[in-house]
Amino acid sequence: MEKTAQKHWPKIDVLETIRLRRSIRKYTDQPVEWDKIGTVVDAGRVAPTAGNLQSWRFIVIESGHKRKAIAEACMQQYWMEEAPVHILIVMMLKKVREFYGQRGVEFYAVQEAAMAAQNMMLAAHAIGLGTCFVSAFDESRVIDILGLPGDIKPMGIVALGYPAETPEEPLKYRIENVTFMDRWGQQNIARIKDVDNVIWNFRVVERGMKLGADVVKAVDLHTKQARKRLSERLAEKAKEKAEEIKKKLEEKEAQEKKGKP
Ligand SMILES: Cc1cc2nc3c(=O)[nH]c(=O)nc-3n(C[C@H](O)[C@H](O)[C@H](O)COP(=O)(O)O)c2cc1C
Repeated sequence: MEKTAQKHWPKIDVLETIRLRRSIRKYTDQPVEWDKIGTVVDAGRVAPTAGNLQSWRFIVIESGHKRKAIAEACMQQYWMEEAPVHILIVMMLKKVREFYGQRGVEFYAVQEAAMAAQNMMLAAHAIGLGTCFVSAFDESRVIDILGLPGDIKPMGIVALGYPAETPEEPLKYRIENVTFMDRWGQQNIARIKDVDNVIWNFRVVERGMKLGADVVKAVDLHTKQARKRLSERLAEKAKEKAEEIKKKLEEKEAQEKKGKP
């Protein structure tokens, strides 16, 4: 990002941005300011590319009917229509083939475009916007909708807008279970055979513990409130009883006074 663009938006810790980004599939109808769209696209522009070839282009789509057509082309993912902006990332196959041959087409172009997409999504999150990456689409329909020439291939779409949902943190594997040491399959917890199963159990236990803690808290609160209500009622009763005794004593005293010569 250029210095000028950086100046406009608050600085947020990159690790926090990475951790808190979520795929957003519900958006408000608030339009996204052009400056912000620019900041997001610019973050894609500065992503790493093979040999600095920059063999992608970005198409910003605001038009309502095009977004509707794109949502349909994306296997009827109609939630996409709600996102006020779509950014299509396309790969320039001819360019990358000239420099890197088939490997360039199969790997580098896709990798570059994916890196640009991730940069955009992180930048968007950092400035208060939501995104969702979408690559389930009918390629020929997307090509038609946007008039892409023969050597330009769509890679993915970043849906962009102000989020209208706060999704929960999705389940992710633990680092120790997706990272090997020195060679394939060498885990630091070597005894774990079925990682998926164990992780799921870990998560169930974690969630169970959290639920348990929440229940204990709720019961505790309820008990405290019930205890408070009971002691208030007892105090009220004691007060009534004291009033009654006081009244009786006063009456007795009055009668005794009357009885005196
Ligand atoms: C290659 C790729 C394709 C995706 N395609 C879609 C898609 O077509 N529709 C969708 O709703 N989300 C899509 N997503 C988003 C994923 O569903 C999402 O990243 C995943 O559920 C994890 O959630 P998170 O992004 O909040 O961490 C895609 C993500 C990737 C990386």
